[in-house]
Amino acid sequence: MLFHVPLALASLSKSSPSYQFVIQALKAKRLFILDHHDTLMPYVERINATPSKIYATRTLLFLQNEGTLKPIAIELSLPHPDGYELGVVSKVYTPAKDGVEAAIWQLAKAYVTVNDSGVHQLISHWLNTHAVIEPFIIATNRQLSVLHPINKLLHPHFRDTMNINATARNILINSEGILERSFFPGKYSIEMSSKIYKDWVFPNQALPVDLVLRGMAIEDSSSPHGLRLTIEDYPYAVDGLEIWSAIKTWVDDYCRFYYKTDDMVKNDTELQSWWKELREEGHGDLKDEPWWPKMNSIQDVIDNCTIIIWVASALHAAVNYGQFAYAGYPPNRPTLSRRLMPEPNTSEYDELKDDPKKGFLKTVTPQLQSLLSVSLIEILSRHTSDEIYLGQRECPEWTMDVEPLMAFEKFGKTLKQIEEKIVKMNNDERLKNRNGLAKVPYTLLYPSSEEGITGRGIPNSVVI
Ligand SMILES: [Fe+2]
Repeated sequence: MLFHVPLALASLSKSSPSYQFVIQALKAKRLFILDHHDTLMPYVERINATPSKIYATRTLLFLQNEGTLKPIAIELSLPHPDGYELGVVSKVYTPAKDGVEAAIWQLAKAYVTVNDSGVHQLISHWLNTHAVIEPFIIATNRQLSVLHPINKLLHPHFRDTMNINATARNILINSEGILERSFFPGKYSIEMSSKIYKDWVFPNQALPVDLVLRGMAIEDSSSPHGLRLTIEDYPYAVDGLEIWSAIKTWVDDYCRFYYKTDDMVKNDTELQSWWKELREEGHGDLKDEPWWPKMNSIQDVIDNCTIIIWVASALHAAVNYGQFAYAGYPPNRPTLSRRLMPEPNTSEYDELKDDPKKGFLKTVTPQLQSLLSVSLIEILSRHTSDEIYLGQRECPEWTMDVEPLMAFEKFGKTLKQIEEKIVKMNNDERLKNRNGLAKVPYTLLYPSSEEGITGRGIPNSVVI
């Protein structure tokens, strides 16, 4: 997850060119950070006592004139030899094109992707979509009648999720399962996921809130969707805000048909029991958190249901269906590292100098685990033939109420228009993050898809 940087400058002299560069870059909002340091550091010592050897990493990225990000420094950190409570031992690496320095920079980037691929699978994907949506499904089934309008609204977004989560618990995230065997957290995977869950905040899952909190946008009433993006060509944010807004309008239209006053919300005993159970039982570990939104007004219903639908559909699609396309070539996206950075005057360092490829391959994911992780993401990235996408319903007669049906049709049309916009932007040569040197169009939030591995399509629910 990318953040605009708040950078610690204390270690730099104010008169040094580096300090001046950082100050200028910060003022111009050109420094960004991929920060896996604090979340992973408590586990590094224990993980490094297993065959895995990792660092906790921070990567600084510079926003170039053409709008793309370039990594300019990587910090690799280990806990203090007497325990991470005493501090950390860090080294900073910078880009190099030639000689052993280039091989070292390549390895530094590999340690970052090892962190990132594990956090992506375990936190961004499993925890932040599959796991957190489950309590909403259980509470809906227990507290809202099948005829309740909010049950009818949310039902498509819960399709098959309990089933896939049960399968995941049996073969994917189970003890010694695929995740533990092929991603760096290993046997600490679920402990780490449970710990990080304690920092999950439901209202912060709203895309506009998430973007602002990460410094990737600021509120600006004159900009589309009320937000000015820090990186104008940030495809996830640009397409995401279109989808977010379409979902919100649909939910608004729907909910205002059934709830005419805030009192109707307050006096809806099923709705109140639903909201109480999912907070106090489903998400019971977080039940005392002050940030839980209320369910006292029509706006509360709209805001909360929009977040639920966003997480189950678009957020999951964005983190799931591109996995094979972006990570299917393991050397480019290793999931494990087996040794630390070679130090000068060691045989590993000399080998890296003489044969950088050999040194690289001796460090990153071995063959069997590469096969496991690639097979996993190939399966996860595939749409089935019976997938139902955002803007579609399994049964056209899901309601007999005309206004909601018309609003749903409008939602479908809006999504089609968004598809056209996405195609247009992906063909725009000025947008280098969609149509740059690498020619990788951003399609993860393109709503529809065919069966198979397409790298696009937003299913209604978390189904794989
Ligand atoms: Fe998934």
